[in-house]
Amino acid sequence: MKYQAVIFDLDGVICHTDHYHYLAWKKIADEIGVHFDKTINNRLRGIGRMESLEILLGARSGEFSLQAKEELATKKNEYYRQLLQTMTMQDLDPEIKKTLDIIKARGLKLAIGSSSKNAKLILKQIGLENYFDAVSDGTIISRSKPDPEVFLKASAMLGVKPEYCLVVEDAKSGLEAAKAANMDSAAIGDAVKSGLADYQLKTLSDLLLYL
Ligand code: BG6
Ligand code: MG
Repeated sequence: MKYQAVIFDLDGVICHTDHYHYLAWKKIADEIGVHFDKTINNRLRGIGRMESLEILLGARSGEFSLQAKEELATKKNEYYRQLLQTMTMQDLDPEIKKTLDIIKARGLKLAIGSSSKNAKLILKQIGLENYFDAVSDGTIISRSKPDPEVFLKASAMLGVKPEYCLVVEDAKSGLEAAKAANMDSAAIGDAVKSGLADYQLKTLSDLLLYL
């Protein structure tokens, strides 16, 4: 068997929190009168919070001081966390849980590789708090995707060399990060069209064909 571990992105792969990110950023954009839509939101996938704000502000970035930007990012996170509070185990799709269980039963290790500082809260909300062998997230990295740091840390935590890890991503930046980490990758959702991945998935269970 080629792979010993699978590293999953969280937002947009394990659960639909990518939509909550969109809703929270949209609220900020409306408040300050900046145009924001789902196409722009797709560019924020995998990117850290402050970098995301810069993309949202675009040409208007110079109008805001660093302090004003930090306040906007904090406010966005407050809106976002209000949405996360509504999440329960019902928000974990049974097909996704079943797929994870099968991969585990086949003897592979499972990790999360997410740029989010809210990853542990989300895992708790959906009942996967103690499920993964390693959680590498926004709280332990200094550079977000497309930098490979988050995946290299996951691989080190698992004790599995990068070439034996497979990354699952919905973000172009995440696929670039996997490549930079010398890991194979599988794309789902928005990332499929980038053509950067080794495998293209329609649903997460398609992954079982390659493991
Ligand atoms: C990633 C999302 O998982 O986490 C990005 O795809 C988000 O859209 C990033 O900006 C940081 O998330 P958070 O929860 O720390 O603001
Ligand atoms: Mg994602």
